[in-house]
Amino acid sequence: MNHILVINSSALGEASVSRHLVGSTVQRMLELNPNAVVTYRDLNDAPVPHLTSATVAGIRAVAQTQDELAAQALSDELIAELKAADVLVIGAPMYNFSIPSSLRSWFDYVLRPRVTFAYGAGGVQGLLSSDMRVIVIESRGGLYSEGPTKAMDFQEPYLRTLLGFIGITDVTFIHAERIGSGPEARELAIETAKSRIEEVVTVSGR
Ligand SMILES: Cc1cc2nc3c(=O)[nH]c(=O)nc-3n(C[C@H](O)[C@H](O)[C@H](O)COP(=O)(O)O)c2cc1C
Repeated sequence: MNHILVINSSALGEASVSRHLVGSTVQRMLELNPNAVVTYRDLNDAPVPHLTSATVAGIRAVAQTQDELAAQALSDELIAELKAADVLVIGAPMYNFSIPSSLRSWFDYVLRPRVTFAYGAGGVQGLLSSDMRVIVIESRGGLYSEGPTKAMDFQEPYLRTLLGFIGITDVTFIHAERIGSGPEARELAIETAKSRIEEVVTVSGR
């Protein structure tokens, strides 16, 4: 591991469970690899703007106007950041059964035809490195990894699809669930997630 890209997307600031667990993950990685370079992108502090009719061509067509060129430049920057990393750590809270719109906007700039994916004779092809390792911390108010609400989890399958679409397939999800069920459940969720982080980071060595 040489370069870790860390993406946080929670709107809850310092109270955020995912931000706290992302911090623990990176800290453990740095204990194992003190020379790793870390790049932070906090989508709450520096949001990626939603695409609009003024900017969308900068990502999906040919940029011509100032606004389109600015959108394309931001997309170039975000993709370069992603390509430079060999490990990606994402803090992804569950919002309305899916991901925060801040994180969705980041993907809108990163999934770019002919740059991160392409259509060929065999269908779609992801153009990013399949060697990249991804750890996603998913914090959730309720329980979605089992039971009747499992079918309402549009967070994990969606993230797996988005990353897979651009060629990133080595993805490990770590859950902190039932955060909204009181202080004891919250504490247990955080401790369980931390044990899993230790297991995942130590076993892989990166
Ligand atoms: C706007 C918003 C929407 C939420 N939607 C859901 C939801 O659909 N299901 C759920 O279990 N929890 C939901 N929650 C609770 C969060 O998933 C939970 O608080 C989690 O800890 C958020 O992660 P964070 O602490 O890193 O911000 C929602 C919270 C917010 C702020």
